[in-house]
Amino acid sequence: MLRKEQNDKLTQVGPGTPMGDLLRNYWFPIAASVELDENPVKKVRLLGEDLVLYKDRSGNLGLIDEPCPHRRVSMEYGIPEEVGLRCPYHGWLFNHEGQCIEQPAEPWNSTFKDRVRTKAYQAQELGGLVFAYMGAQPVPLLPRYDLFVWDNVIRHIGVTVLNCNWLQCMENSLDPTHVEWLHGHYLDYVWSRKGRPMPNNFGNSHKKIGFDRYEHGIIKRRVRAGTTEEHDMWKVGHPVVFPAMLRVGPTFQIRVPIDDEHTYHVHYVVYRPGIPVPPQESVPVYEVPLYDEHGKIISDYVLAQDFFVWVTQGAIADRSQEHLGQSDVGIIMYRELLLEQMDKAARGEPLMEVYRDAAQNQCITLPQERDGVASSAQNPQVAVYIGAQGVQTEEIFGEAFKHLDQRMWALHKEAGERQARGESLLPVDEPPIVPVGYQDHKAVTILP
Ligand code: FES
Ligand SMILES: [Fe+2]
Repeated sequence: MLRKEQNDKLTQVGPGTPMGDLLRNYWFPIAASVELDENPVKKVRLLGEDLVLYKDRSGNLGLIDEPCPHRRVSMEYGIPEEVGLRCPYHGWLFNHEGQCIEQPAEPWNSTFKDRVRTKAYQAQELGGLVFAYMGAQPVPLLPRYDLFVWDNVIRHIGVTVLNCNWLQCMENSLDPTHVEWLHGHYLDYVWSRKGRPMPNNFGNSHKKIGFDRYEHGIIKRRVRAGTTEEHDMWKVGHPVVFPAMLRVGPTFQIRVPIDDEHTYHVHYVVYRPGIPVPPQESVPVYEVPLYDEHGKIISDYVLAQDFFVWVTQGAIADRSQEHLGQSDVGIIMYRELLLEQMDKAARGEPLMEVYRDAAQNQCITLPQERDGVASSAQNPQVAVYIGAQGVQTEEIFGEAFKHLDQRMWALHKEAGERQARGESLLPVDEPPIVPVGYQDHKAVTILP
């Protein structure tokens, strides 16, 4: 249970708030690159600020304040020029640093434009996503996490805007036992009511859960019924990457704080069949729905189940009314880590997961159990994970996904055939193992 001031400190992300100041040290995805191919200007909102992302005709990305500094028209309707974005109202042109470089209606010899700037932030592309950085100089490197930079893969991106604070999504990732209930027993109940009982393996009991703080965040471990501490789910586990990303199987879930009451959820999926795959021309994006056509919450596949529990906790969960048990130890560890890093940010000290050395940022390989909740990147069962056991993924995500899904299965089939002929698959890097008890280890034994 937290006091109201503590809850505010952990959940408010606007400029000048402690959490807002901390989060402004990190890059966040704000769009799929392919969106700018279709329309080179996109309105975005990040950390409580309304902005406009654009790609100019030279291919440069810009991220500037939404209102034009002249008379406050939205730059969302601006014209991308050879360099910069031009306001639709009187044609003022701004470069990606926010400097006004043309004012066509002002006298030819006016120097007024030299004294007009608009707010401007950094934007960069990686792995089919556009990322934004809204913090102070010097700008840190955009972290090159493994799934963003692997070769011989196909990727796709599912996005959802959720009506809730980002911390609710993150705390769920420090909460292993919900898998057993929400995605196990509750999923059974939902499908039984539809008259299509669908046995799944998510409902296995948790015997023990554990958490280790480590260099990139927190490792989450579990021992489930029928397994021991020798199993990958305990020995290797999978990480929450500080501050706002979960790695699980071949997926990232990135929880981007739009503002205090909204989150842009990015579900980034990578298939690695183990055979050469030509580079993708572009990485497709689709919406992962939370509501059906009647506006009712969807509860019959895994990702939407997570969404609905976050959203139904309220726009900002009232943690002054919660009752944490022993099994919530991971949530407490994560809150303490956030508070510690907020204090460091306030003192101007180095922060977790801020990269400034390119040599350390070639490919950041994250620990990942091979045999776990969402299976490995070699395993096409990820489609089942997203679709929750037997639900046809294209039923949920539509034709674009169906095409990708078929391509992914074809690649895995080809990989299987090559193996059957005695050919070896492309080598994969061994995920690093962070020893249990590495740093600030906490564990809870639930069953004898
Ligand atoms: S309002 Fe933008 S140029 Fe006038
Ligand atoms: Fe979940």
